[in-house]
Amino acid sequence: KESTMRKLVKGNVSWVGYMHWELEMFHGDEYSILNGSSQNAFLIEEEKTILVDTVWLPHRDEFIENLKAEGVLDKIDAIIVNHGEQDHSGSLPALLKEIPDTPLYCTAACVKSLEGQCGQQGWNFNVVKTGDSLDIGNGKQLIFVEMKMLHWPDSMATYMTGDNILFSMDAFGQHFAVEEMFNDLADQALLDKEAMKYFANILNPFAPFVTKKLEEIAKLNLPIDIIAPSHGVVWRDNPGQIVEKYAVWADAYQENQITVAYDTMWEGTTKLAHAIADEIHKQAPDTVVKVYNIAKSDKNEIMTEVFKSKAIVVGSPTCVNDVLTSVAGWLSFLKTLKFKNKKAAAFGCYGWSGESVKILQTKLAEAGFEVVEGNVRSCWNPDEEDFAKIPDMVAELVK
Ligand code: FEO
Repeated sequence: KESTMRKLVKGNVSWVGYMHWELEMFHGDEYSILNGSSQNAFLIEEEKTILVDTVWLPHRDEFIENLKAEGVLDKIDAIIVNHGEQDHSGSLPALLKEIPDTPLYCTAACVKSLEGQCGQQGWNFNVVKTGDSLDIGNGKQLIFVEMKMLHWPDSMATYMTGDNILFSMDAFGQHFAVEEMFNDLADQALLDKEAMKYFANILNPFAPFVTKKLEEIAKLNLPIDIIAPSHGVVWRDNPGQIVEKYAVWADAYQENQITVAYDTMWEGTTKLAHAIADEIHKQAPDTVVKVYNIAKSDKNEIMTEVFKSKAIVVGSPTCVNDVLTSVAGWLSFLKTLKFKNKKAAAFGCYGWSGESVKILQTKLAEAGFEVVEGNVRSCWNPDEEDFAKIPDMVAELVK
C-alpha cells in the first residue's frame, strides 16, 4: 500500500502523526481551534526503531494501520512517551495490544498518569529522569529532559543527538494544521498568532517554570537544529526564534494595548464600553484598543488579547446582585491564567442594587490585576454624569 502518512523531518526521522483539519474544540470545550491542529508523532529509524508519542484515541486505528502499511509496526524497539495526556497517549492501549512488551520510556509521573487513565495493564515501563539517555545506534542517542508542569507534572522532552532534534512535546506547539509541516512553509501571521494563543491559554499559568526550564536547557549547551513539538509546525528555520519568544512571553508580557471586555443586557454597558474605547484612543492614540462582548466572542481569542494588553477594562451590568453569568465564567478562566503586571478597571450599569462593579474589582484583584480606583457605575442608562467619569478612569490605565 502506498504511504499515506510519512513526512520526512530530517535524516532517518519522519512525522507519522495525525493532521486534524476538522478539530473545532480541544480540552473538552475549553480551547477553540480555528485553523485545525495536529497530533505530532515521530518515527526514528536508526539501528533501533523508535516511536516518539502516538495520537489521540479517535485516530488510533488509522495510526496503527499506517504504521503497518509502512512496514514498521513490528520493527518498533521502543516507544518514547513524552506526556500522558490523551491527545498523545490515547493510542497506546490499542498499539500495545499489537506490540505488547515494547519498552516505554517516560517519567515516573507519566507512569502514574497512564496507569490512572488506562489502568494497570502490565506495560513495560522504563522510568527516565533528566540526563538519562537511550542508545539508538548509528552513534546517536536520545537524551531525556523532564519538563515538569510544562504543562503537566509528567511532561518530558527528548533530544536526539547527531541530528540535533528536540522533541519538545506541548512546549513551542500551536493548535495549527500545516500540511507542509515546517515553520518556514506556514502562513507566518497565523503561525505567530496560534503560537501566542497556545502560550496565553495553556502555558501562561506555568510561566515561571518556562523561564527556569529555558535557562536549564540553555546550560545543557545542546545544539538544536530542529524543534519538533507535539502540535503544529516543526521549527526548522531558526528554531531559536520560538525559544526567544517564550522567554519574552514568560516574563510578564505586555504590548501597548488595552482591551475592553464586557457583556450587556440592554446595551447600556455596551455604550460605556464604546465610550471607554474612544477615550483610550483620545488620551493615548498610539495604544491599540480592542473591544469584545464576552458572551459573543471566543474566550480564547479574547484571552490572547488580554495577554498582549497592559490593562483591561471589564464591564457587566448587575443582575440579581451579581455580574452576568458569561462574565462570571470568563473571570474564573481569567484567574486560572495567572497574568502578571497588568492594570484593570471595572464598569457597568444597574437598575436596582448595583453590586457588579465592586464584584468585578474584587475578582480582577483576585486574578492578579492591579485594580485602579476609577470606575463607572451607571444607574439605568449612562448619562452625561457617568460618561464624565470615564476620562479619570482611563487616565489611570494609560499612565
Ligand atoms: Fe497536547 Fe498536554 O497534550
